[in-house]
Formats: sequence, structure tokens, C-alpha cells
Amino acid sequence: MQAVLGDAPAGSDLKVVRGPGTNGLVQVLRLRRNIFDEAAGLRTEFGDLALLKAFGIKIVYAQGPEAADVILANRDRAYASGPAWEYLIGPFFRRGLMLLDFDEHHEHKRIMQQAFTPANLKGYMDVMMPGIRERIAGWPVSDNAQMYGRFKELTLDLALDVFVGMQLTESEAAKINRAFIDAVRAGSALIRKPVPGLRWKKGLTARKVLEDFFFSKIGEKRRQGGSDLFAVMCSVETEDGIRFSDEDVVNHMIFLLMAAHDTSTTTMTTMAYYLAKNPEWQDRVRQQSQQLGDDLAYDRLGDLTGLDWCMKESLRLCGPVPGIPRRAVRDTELLGHHIPANTTVVISTLTNHYIPEYWPEPTAFDPERFSPERREDKIHRLAWEPFGGGVHRCIGLHFAGMQIKAIYHELLQHYQWSVPSTYEWPLDVSALPVPRDGLPVKLTRIPSMNR
Ligand code: HEM
Repeated sequence: MQAVLGDAPAGSDLKVVRGPGTNGLVQVLRLRRNIFDEAAGLRTEFGDLALLKAFGIKIVYAQGPEAADVILANRDRAYASGPAWEYLIGPFFRRGLMLLDFDEHHEHKRIMQQAFTPANLKGYMDVMMPGIRERIAGWPVSDNAQMYGRFKELTLDLALDVFVGMQLTESEAAKINRAFIDAVRAGSALIRKPVPGLRWKKGLTARKVLEDFFFSKIGEKRRQGGSDLFAVMCSVETEDGIRFSDEDVVNHMIFLLMAAHDTSTTTMTTMAYYLAKNPEWQDRVRQQSQQLGDDLAYDRLGDLTGLDWCMKESLRLCGPVPGIPRRAVRDTELLGHHIPANTTVVISTLTNHYIPEYWPEPTAFDPERFSPERREDKIHRLAWEPFGGGVHRCIGLHFAGMQIKAIYHELLQHYQWSVPSTYEWPLDVSALPVPRDGLPVKLTRIPSMNR
């Protein structure tokens, strides 16, 4: 029997959102098993909005850029981000920017934007480059290099340079890395109670470790300054002189670490997969990097056009944030449907990028979609939405692009990698998308580039 979301207000011509009425657990399992087919099936049967039961609540599963546009533009201020994300990550990442709403969010974003100006991005790149060169140069060749693990470790190490920007002892660095991993993993805990030894409890402990760490260093950071993100977050202010308090800096730093980490790791892994499956593209982007040469300056990043298209196409094929949740804070209307207050709405960003009306041959890796001649993303302003949209649009998108391109520029010049032609990665979409097998590739050094 179909499920129905509430009643449309008397006298209105709004429709009600309907769904398959499937048991919540079965629904989650079906989405996990094949989210693309499941989403396409729901859209055929129910249109852009379908009512699902999952994670113990009713969810309006919103597909297509039209729905995303209304929800993210949020013109009638009917949707809040904080209460929707709170359930997933609230206890570990509280008062991060994405968990704030409306006027308070606006004020904090205005300050934080000052930390992501081109001048500051250039500073972060200068801090990051030596570490990228050194660490990539040390990558061992292997017939079975697990790319996901390598990128994860690399971004964690770089985060200490560019986010924290302090010389830490080995044990201090290990402790922070551990805490950070535990905090990120806690969000996907199945048992969402502080049971000793389990993920949720470890996440709470990790939050405390990270808070203590940042609070203990903030005085020194404020005095010393620097080009790393922690130092910049301590000093940024709006034109009218509004700054972050110590508590704000600590809350935002912990959130930023999380927001930057898995997302970039997933994007780089996806790029590695598609560039291994499409060696002609790997050669093409390698040539561009070789022409540009070793010393990549911030203002030359724009020259890496092929790499930019490959990154965008990888973000389309496997968006690291597969869904964007919002909570309706009052009754509202969405594409002619009634959405009652307190409803959770989830924009299906991962599967939206596979809708054939917007993306011809959606499963094909075709980076030239993003070339100036084609610009297939222009078909709708939210057709390509890996960074979200509206007021909560990712503040770190240029940071991410810079870091990913800088790493790939290094990698391409010194290594090549391949997978057997029959290989298809086993993608796990139960949380952020990751390849279950870690993406094993044959990684070899390019002889002429031996260091
Ligand atoms: C490829 C990498 C990345 C992807 C795909 C990505 C994706 C996203 C998405 C989809 C959102 C919007 C969530 C929502 O509306 O609920 C978001 C928000 C955010 N991201 Fe990213 N992100 C990436 C990298 C980064 C990096 C590197 C940073 C920081 C250095 C960062 C910081 C943030 C912050 C602070 C927000 C909250 C913005 C707000 O609420 O106003 N992200 N990101």
C-alpha cells in the first residue's frame, strides 16, 4: 500500500507526497544495494518527490534540479539545515557552519568567507606544496596500491600542515589524527548511544580531544599568526570588524577538518578510478602537467584545463556528499506538493547527476562535457551540484579544487596507474561513497621522471 505524507490544507490545490510504503529497513537496504536503479524507479513511479521511511523517520526524497533549486534557494525560509544534519553529525560537529541557520549562519559565513579569499588560498597552497611534493615522492610503487587509503592518509597529513600549521610531536599528531578519524566515523554509527568501545562513544571522546587541543593552542596561534587556516580563522574579520570568539574558532576548525577530509579523499579516488579506466585521459592530463612543469604556482592552476574537467566529471559521477538533508520549519509548498512542518527532505545529489534528461549518456566518463564548447552543466543551474547551492553552498570548493589539482599535478608527473580492463569498482554508498576494495591499482613510476 502506498504511503502518503499528511493531508493537503483544505481548499488548496496542492498534492500530497506519496511513496511506496516499504518498511524502513527494507527501504534503506534497497537504496544501499543499488541507489541509482532505486532512485530511477522511484522517479518513474512517483515523480520528483517520493515519501520514504528510513532511519526511523519519514523522508521526502527529492530528485532533479528543480526540487533542489527550490529547497536550496529557500526563498520562503522554510527549510533549516542544522536540525536535519544534527541527527547525523550534531554531537561531534556542533556549531559547525553547516549546522547554523538563518541570521546566525549568515553572520558566521560572512566572517569565514574572509578565510577563503584568493590571497588566503594562495597562502594555503604555499603551505601545502612542500608536503605534497615530499609525500607523493615517497609513495612506493606497487601492483596493488590501495588508492583510497593513500589519499586518505595524504589528506590527513596535509591537514596538519595547512589546517593546524604547528609542529606537533609524533604522539600529538597521532592523537589528533585518531580523534579526527573517530569523530568522522561516529556519524555513521548504527548504535547511536554512548556504549563504551563503540563508534558513538569514541566520537564523543574524540570531540573532547579535538576541543582540548584547539583550545590549548589558540592563545599561541592568536599571538603568532601565520598562513595556515587555524591562524587565519583566528584573525579574520568582516568589514565592520566582527570576529570569531575562541569558541567559534574551535567549533569551526573541528567542522572544517571534517568537511574537507572525506570529500577530497573521495574525489581524488574517483579521479584515480576513471583515469585508470580511461588511459587516454590520463595521458592527456599528464601531458598538460608536464608542459607546465614542476613548480605549480597558484595563478597557473587555471592552465590545467583537462584536469579541471576530469575533476568536475568525477564529482558528477560520484559526488562525495550523496544527499543534502533539510528540515521544514513550517508548512511549505514544493513543486505543487504540500510539505508539512517538521518534514525531513533529502536532495538526492548523487543520483541527480545521472538523470538522462540533464546528462546525456550519464554513466559515460566524458570530461569534455565541461569544455567551453559543450558546458552540459549549464542546462540548469543546479544540474551539477556536488557542492550544494544556496546559502549553504560549500565554502571550501576553491580550496578543494586547488588541493586536488596540486596533488594530481604532482602524481601525474611522476607516476602512472592502471586497472585490468574488466575491473569495475565496488562502490559502497551506505555513508559517503567509498570503494569497498580501496581501489587497488598497479602504480609505477615514470622512468624519465625518476627522482
Ligand atoms: C570535493 C570536496 C568537497 C565537496 C564535494 C564538498 C561538498 C559540500 C556540500 C555538498 C556542502 C553543502 C551541504 C549542505 O548544503 O547541507 C558543503 C558545505 C560546506 N563545506 Fe564542503 N565540500 C568539499 C570540500 C570542502 C573543503 C575543502 C572545505 C574547507 C576547507 C569545506 C567546507 C565546507 C563548509 C564549511 C560547508 C558549510 C557551508 C555552509 O553551511 O554555509 N568543504 N560542502
